[in-house]
Amino acid sequence: MTFAGKVVLVTGSTTGIGEACARAFAESGAKVMVSGRHERRGGDVVRELRAAGGSAEFAAADLRAAGACERLVGDTIERLGGLDVLVNNAGILYTADALGTSNEQWLDTMAVNVNALFYLSRAAVKHMKAAGGGAIVNVASEWGLNGEAQHVAYCASKGAVIQITRCMALDHARDNVRVNSVCPGEIHTRMVDDILAKRGGDPAQNLRELASGIPMRRLAHPMEVARCVHFLASDLASYVTGANLCVDGGNDATAGPYP
Ligand SMILES: NC(=O)c1ccc[n+]([C@@H]2O[C@H](COP(=O)([O-])OP(=O)(O)OC[C@H]3O[C@@H](n4cnc5c(N)ncnc54)[C@H](OP(=O)(O)O)[C@@H]3O)[C@@H](O)[C@H]2O)c1
Repeated sequence: MTFAGKVVLVTGSTTGIGEACARAFAESGAKVMVSGRHERRGGDVVRELRAAGGSAEFAAADLRAAGACERLVGDTIERLGGLDVLVNNAGILYTADALGTSNEQWLDTMAVNVNALFYLSRAAVKHMKAAGGGAIVNVASEWGLNGEAQHVAYCASKGAVIQITRCMALDHARDNVRVNSVCPGEIHTRMVDDILAKRGGDPAQNLRELASGIPMRRLAHPMEVARCVHFLASDLASYVTGANLCVDGGNDATAGPYP
């Protein structure tokens, strides 16, 4: 599936799933805007994409800052000549139950995972509607579908992402703007390493234990999520909107611990 001539903005693409998404779109001919807070890492990603023959730019943004989301969309349109696809991937996670979650952690989670995603989507839809269409793919989580102990703020935020996806898909179906989400399960990135590090003990053993509870008995590579994001953004998914695709090795198919 070619994205030649298309402009794709991927938030949180300095690492992890977002970086893999940037790579997947760049490999298929898109002009990609890489974004995140860390300029050095963002610059490295852009250099790697260009070295592989892709087209990419970097825009530094802390999505919690006032006006940052609108500026990022505007900057992308100005520097790359439009906006055909927005991938809302940036996300953060705190590990705590309700009693252990501070107001700051709650607000921080909502600021990045929910507010920024909404502000970016609103700005993108405004442009896409005027331009004749586009696609938005939101990176939610299987923890937005199911509860997870010690992650109340994160689960609430990802549940909101799934509902934003559905509502915006309905509101903009006739504008030729498709809005979908993916729900990754356990993907081997910095986020999962951080969660496991908090458990203490041997990191390799923690990883093996995590994998043993997944029907497919392994974590995913970030590119396995990126391929699904790429599909949902592409014309191959031309009749798909408001959908939520689980990319979780079978986790969501089971009601309890997998034997
Ligand atoms: N890994 C998993 O198993 C898993 C499972 C389900 C869902 N997800 C979701 O997948 C997405 C990517 O996760 P990941 O595992 O790839 O995590 P990650 O490696 O920690 O990457 C998170 C990305 O978000 C960016 N980001 C965080 N705060 C930001 C802010 N205030 N402003 C701008 N960018 C910000 C980071 O960029 P900078 O550091 O440069 O700011 C980074 O590029 C997240 O939405 C996450 O919730 C992950």
